[in-house]
Amino acid sequence: MNEEIIMSTAEMVRSKLAGEGSGHDWFHIERVWRNAIKIGRAEKADMFIVQLAALLHDLADDKVVLDEETGLSEINYWLEGEGVPPNVIEPVLEIIQTISFKGGTGKILGSLEAKVVQDADRLDAIGAIGIARAFTYAGSVGQPIFDPQYEVREKMTKEDYRNGKTSSIHHFYEKLLKLKDLMNTETAIQMAEERHQFMEQFLEQFFKEYTVDEE
Ligand code: ADP
Ligand code: NI
Repeated sequence: MNEEIIMSTAEMVRSKLAGEGSGHDWFHIERVWRNAIKIGRAEKADMFIVQLAALLHDLADDKVVLDEETGLSEINYWLEGEGVPPNVIEPVLEIIQTISFKGGTGKILGSLEAKVVQDADRLDAIGAIGIARAFTYAGSVGQPIFDPQYEVREKMTKEDYRNGKTSSIHHFYEKLLKLKDLMNTETAIQMAEERHQFMEQFLEQFFKEYTVDEE
């Protein structure tokens, strides 16, 4: 029965996010779901909570819905309609509210399930996929690939994170390169290593091409 709820939730999310253009599309959710299953199994987490939270984690995001409150109440309504008990709905909603990066201002996570889903989401922001997503996001908001006049921001409010002056290359220094050390679980720490190295290599090559000597 839990399996059926997971499948119909996946179907609902898929239809809701079809065509989403800022890197939060269904394929992001599917990858996070898959990562979450892998990490959650290894860490012996509650897989019903992990899977529902992974599938629903972006439906309260201000890029997908009008505001977080509306998103959360819609998720709550959906889960109740599927007959999910309150002792599952509650942690799922809690996870969705707490895992987002939003400039590094996130709260400390309590449950193992929250840690698993956050790690799965963060793994999808780094490595080759993370690079692709950073430039997709930039394209969707008209942000440059790289602007050497911008500074790397060390501390950001949620507002700065969304609206400040930045470029995709800056985003690596403001967020993506930090994620490896912010992983919660041993499984994700190991998965992050190769992806992190690939980003370092990418940046090295980028600046090599950028600063080409004139002869
Ligand atoms: P989260 O929901 O985990 O906080 P975001 O919504 O901030 O993640 O970002 C979604 C995707 O877009 C991520 O892959 C992230 O790295 C990328 N992204 C967010 N802000 C920027 C930016 N200013 N430049 C390039 N990529 C960005
Ligand atoms: Ni996400």
